[in-house]
Amino acid sequence: MNSKASAPGKIILFGEHFVVYGTKAILCAINKRITVSVEKTLENNILIDSSVGNLKSEPDKSLNEIDFQLRPFYFLADMMIKKYNPKFGLKIRVDSEIPLGVGLGSSSACCVAAAAAISGIFAKKSKDEILEIAIEAEKTIFPNTSGADCTVCTYGGLIKYDKKNGHSKILSKPNFHLAIANSKIKHSTKEVVSKVKQFKEKNEEKFSNLCKEESNIIEDVLICLKKNDLLEIGKNIMKNQEYLEAIGISNEKLQDMIKIANQSSFGAKITGAGGGGCIFALTDAENIQSTLKKLKEQNYDCFSAEIDYKGLDTF
Ligand code: PMV
Repeated sequence: MNSKASAPGKIILFGEHFVVYGTKAILCAINKRITVSVEKTLENNILIDSSVGNLKSEPDKSLNEIDFQLRPFYFLADMMIKKYNPKFGLKIRVDSEIPLGVGLGSSSACCVAAAAAISGIFAKKSKDEILEIAIEAEKTIFPNTSGADCTVCTYGGLIKYDKKNGHSKILSKPNFHLAIANSKIKHSTKEVVSKVKQFKEKNEEKFSNLCKEESNIIEDVLICLKKNDLLEIGKNIMKNQEYLEAIGISNEKLQDMIKIANQSSFGAKITGAGGGGCIFALTDAENIQSTLKKLKEQNYDCFSAEIDYKGLDTF
């Protein structure tokens, strides 16, 4: 028997960085997916075949011996093998429509799809159960993960998250399109987060005001999402980008992509840690193509995405 599952990537619509200091963030699943397929093998091994690396290994190894990027897959396979003690091994294959490591939720989508596909060989599990083990798997690479990314990848749609109250689903179903552009500048979330911490320590008052501003726009956006008011959401996206610039996580290339995208969309901003990675522009069915065209004319790598309302899918 084979088992297959896919999970969507995500963007952070509002609130990155400020969320670390207690404000709300809004996350949105996108219709670009990671698919994980698992089959039984005769040898009692764990095999992984992915674009970030391959592995053939016995179970029960220390995670330190496993290549960093492959740890969640190994962890999940090993966990299931220990629980069910099967007479077979597992071959795990990963296919991605999401550019990896650029803040579009590829790691969480991998963890969610792998948790579902690997456990699917042994037993049927609910989405809640899959989410729980996906977060455990994500902790093998990001020990401090809030679980918000895995949550939006599991349930799809939009979620709001803050440190105190955790995450909850946003029930509004707005109908926007996104133009996502990749700066191709590598960034380390950990380094950018620590740079923002230094900024905060030197500018306590300014930072606290920015957190308040961010909270205000997020409250406004939660109302606008109910009304599908893209014009107002776009204005807030531009304001959020200003706050991200104020804390020093933007750069010339990101700024240029945002300037181009702002010409024809409702508003554009960085998504995720910044310093590199991706930006997105909010559009509707009418201005998505013109926004992508403008970015492509300047040789930026970009693609369109919509909200994924399905979340985790198993086959
Ligand atoms: O780049 P991403 O998608 O990993 O997002 C990082 C989001 C931050 O707010 C910068 C950090 C965090 O832990 O919330």
